[in-house]
Amino acid sequence: MLSLLASHAAPSQVQTPMLAVFLPAGTNGAPLSCPAALAPLDAALHGALARTLARRDFRGGRDETFVLTGADDGAQRVVLVGLGKAPGTRAQWRRAGAVAARVAAKLGCGGMAAWAQDAEPAQIEGLVAGLSLGAWTYPDLRTPAPATERREPVTSATVLLADRDDARAAFAFGDALAAGYAIARRLGMMPGNVCTPETFVETAQGLAERHGLGVTVLGRAEMAAEGMGSFLCVAQGTPEEPRLVAVEYRGGAADAPPIVLVGKGLCFDTGGISIKPAPDMEWMKFDMSGAGGVMGAMETIARLKWPVNVVGIVGATTNMPSGTAVKPGDVVRASNGKTIEIINTDAEGRLVLADLLVFAKRYQPAVVLDAATLTGAIVFALGHNAVGLFGPDAALVEEVRIAGEQSGEPGWPLPVWDEYREQIKSDVADLRNTGGRPAGSITAALFLQEFVDGYPWVHLDVAGTAYSQSDLGWVPKGPTGTPVGTFVEFVRGRVR
Ligand code: BES
Ligand code: MN
Ligand code: ZN
Repeated sequence: MLSLLASHAAPSQVQTPMLAVFLPAGTNGAPLSCPAALAPLDAALHGALARTLARRDFRGGRDETFVLTGADDGAQRVVLVGLGKAPGTRAQWRRAGAVAARVAAKLGCGGMAAWAQDAEPAQIEGLVAGLSLGAWTYPDLRTPAPATERREPVTSATVLLADRDDARAAFAFGDALAAGYAIARRLGMMPGNVCTPETFVETAQGLAERHGLGVTVLGRAEMAAEGMGSFLCVAQGTPEEPRLVAVEYRGGAADAPPIVLVGKGLCFDTGGISIKPAPDMEWMKFDMSGAGGVMGAMETIARLKWPVNVVGIVGATTNMPSGTAVKPGDVVRASNGKTIEIINTDAEGRLVLADLLVFAKRYQPAVVLDAATLTGAIVFALGHNAVGLFGPDAALVEEVRIAGEQSGEPGWPLPVWDEYREQIKSDVADLRNTGGRPAGSITAALFLQEFVDGYPWVHLDVAGTAYSQSDLGWVPKGPTGTPVGTFVEFVRGRVR
């Protein structure tokens, strides 16, 4: 984690290897003018900043950067970072903060400073989280470069901001949010032989130790006793112990119904007997991103000590073909008694979630949100730019959509009309686990709905958004951390 410091120093006074300055785009192509507060810094740079802006070498566009070389005293480098067009939302600042930290990482600066000018609290939140997200790396599995060639990773950042109480709270929020994202991204980056179901047990125990959360862990035997034949049929192809892990944060009144967050935790998804094609199969290490998002959100919420009860439930296993694996045509019984005909063993996420959603009922939840890398079809519907949102309660879906928008994780609703249910009717059992190609994400959601019993519920399909297959500038290739932001923002909305 990036170590973050707040300071009231002026940009011309701070001693730092790199100072990031954030500027919004101008209007109608007019050159940007140098903000008055930066005049002393510009003087220290012998006018290079003002000249750069006047020449329109830097225009403040989204993700735009320009590096100015400074003196040895003060800021050794000044990096201009574009915020893009007004209004400068939290998401815009987060993105710019991440871009800035990634420039610092490329330059090998080790540490940096960021000038938050007269930013609003929401913008400071975004900036602080963004810096930390941009500095994030997963170096564990690489041999470090020789010292002579090594570029220092960014380990510390000083944020220059005005002395205001709401700035301090925003700073703490951004830092806690980044800590949650770091957990989710780390789990998402870990290969399937490193992130196993046991890793989720250890992650939960870490949460318990740091923040005093309650932890419940079920293995194969305990799940069998609960009648979780749906979850267990996915796990029957692997010798690895499957894990249902529940973490309880109790910050609210003892009798206040909790918000329950549920996550799909497939540490790897080969497809099972309905095996996936070899090309790109390695991406399926990300199939635990829903569960990673739950763990990350729990970290953020517990750090902030919000007065609310939140339970996180993840179902972790690995979908493998083997002599003991479940086969197409097999019929299994879930813990609510419903029978399921397995049509395709690659539609395993919904089988795991089915028993988790039944399990969630025992917490008498105020609301349940589940997140899962559930369907390839959501990529066809919404691409990589939006989370798929599903649920029978349009107002609740809208609440989740707004939480996503606010947190830079846009989502969009798809219909869950009864008509689609026809596709998951079985000839031999109560349900079948796939509904064919048409509307694949919707029929998956309707399958889940069969296991939702009387509580408000929204399903988030993050298969298109939890992992980026290209470098996006503000996010490197790899896990994005989605849906941590949406979960956290939703809970925050309920706290207020
Ligand atoms: N984890 C996958 C979903 C997925 C597929 C995410 C491709 C990202 C890219 C899920 O378990 C799965 O395999 N779903 C199947 C369902 C189908 C068999 C009905 C799919 O989407 O192909
Ligand atoms: Mn699958
Ligand atoms: Zn899967």
